[in-house]
Amino acid sequence: MTGLTSTSMEMPLISSRFQNLPQVMLFSLAVMLLQTGSSYGSLPFYNGFYYDRVMNDKGDGEVLFNGVRLMVETSDDAIFTHRGANVTLPCRYHYAPKLDAPRRIRIKWSKLREDNTKERDVLVASGRKHRIFGEFRGRTHLQQEAADEASLVINDLRLHDAGKYRCEVIDGLEDESGTVDLELQGVVFPYQPPHGRYKLNFHEAKKSCEDQDAVIASFDQLFKSWMEGLDWCNAGWLIDGTVQYPITLPREPCGGNHLEPGIRSYGERHKNLHHFDVFCFSSALKGTVYYLDHNQKFTLEEAKQACQDDQGEIAKVGQLYSAWKFLDLDRCDAGWLADGSVRYPIASPRPNCGPPEPGVRSFGFPQTGKFGVYCYKMS
Ligand SMILES: *[C@@H]1O[C@H](CO)[C@@H](O)[C@H](O)[C@H]1NC(C)=O
Repeated sequence: MTGLTSTSMEMPLISSRFQNLPQVMLFSLAVMLLQTGSSYGSLPFYNGFYYDRVMNDKGDGEVLFNGVRLMVETSDDAIFTHRGANVTLPCRYHYAPKLDAPRRIRIKWSKLREDNTKERDVLVASGRKHRIFGEFRGRTHLQQEAADEASLVINDLRLHDAGKYRCEVIDGLEDESGTVDLELQGVVFPYQPPHGRYKLNFHEAKKSCEDQDAVIASFDQLFKSWMEGLDWCNAGWLIDGTVQYPITLPREPCGGNHLEPGIRSYGERHKNLHHFDVFCFSSALKGTVYYLDHNQKFTLEEAKQACQDDQGEIAKVGQLYSAWKFLDLDRCDAGWLADGSVRYPIASPRPNCGPPEPGVRSFGFPQTGKFGVYCYKMS
């Protein structure tokens, strides 16, 4: 086992001209060109590459312009923001040498998956026609304030939006792209379900995080938390299907004394058969979390009711972490959360409130006993 592993892969910034086209497509394109060389403009608008331009480009069958290069520029630095924010992912394109007249191009934004294999469509635009896909509908548009701009605006960012995006500009067969890395400031927390340690397969792990108003963490998110001091000696799933855990203080049961601090990895595990804990990720809180001031203590059921009586709902684990991290929620009173765990958030450590580091303290999932409660309100 190595002290530190990295799973991140760089995507090439500029893709080479034909790498996305299967051989057979190239071949049939060549045949069509030979046969027609004229208008092919009746192809349906669909989500992929467009070959019609190739055919009627200037009407003379010219496919590529001689010595002219299309170039796409994006941001080299990752864009950092938080849940709920509006963000602009910058993208520009130009030709070298410059062209006299503007050309009709297509723009395609897609989101890379964690393993960088497949992409998910976000937006395609051709002239004035735009199409936006899936969960990006209603909160995404193209920003073209300058003639050469193809930036993507996403409003009201969600936890799932973090990741790498590709801006692709297509001019006939010229197809260039660049990527933009969108990262959310956040907090990573290990999660174990009420029924105990190492009980979650990958799919259950993902769902457990979502049930706590969080998402399963990426390696980069775990790595950042490790840099900030996260130390946890139980292995948890990450979004890429690997199982890892972060250690800042090497010790025998956690990979051994002799290993450097780092992220210990079990590598990829079987998503259905293997069971571990999970690392969840949350970002800024939309709304507030508060300890319900009340004379009396509650059972879990009474606690849920008490929050409802207060026009709120019992808080989820991700919401408590988020309030602790971003709103400095600090309260030395143990309270119920929605999953049946009892916890309290400490921003300024002090005697009788747990260890000397800030953190969310946990009492696990008590089967008996009465406690306070943390409630959540949307605003
Ligand atoms: C995001 O943009 C929308 C639409 O323009 C606007 O209503 C909203 O207030 C913006 N949100 C933030 C956090 O700036």
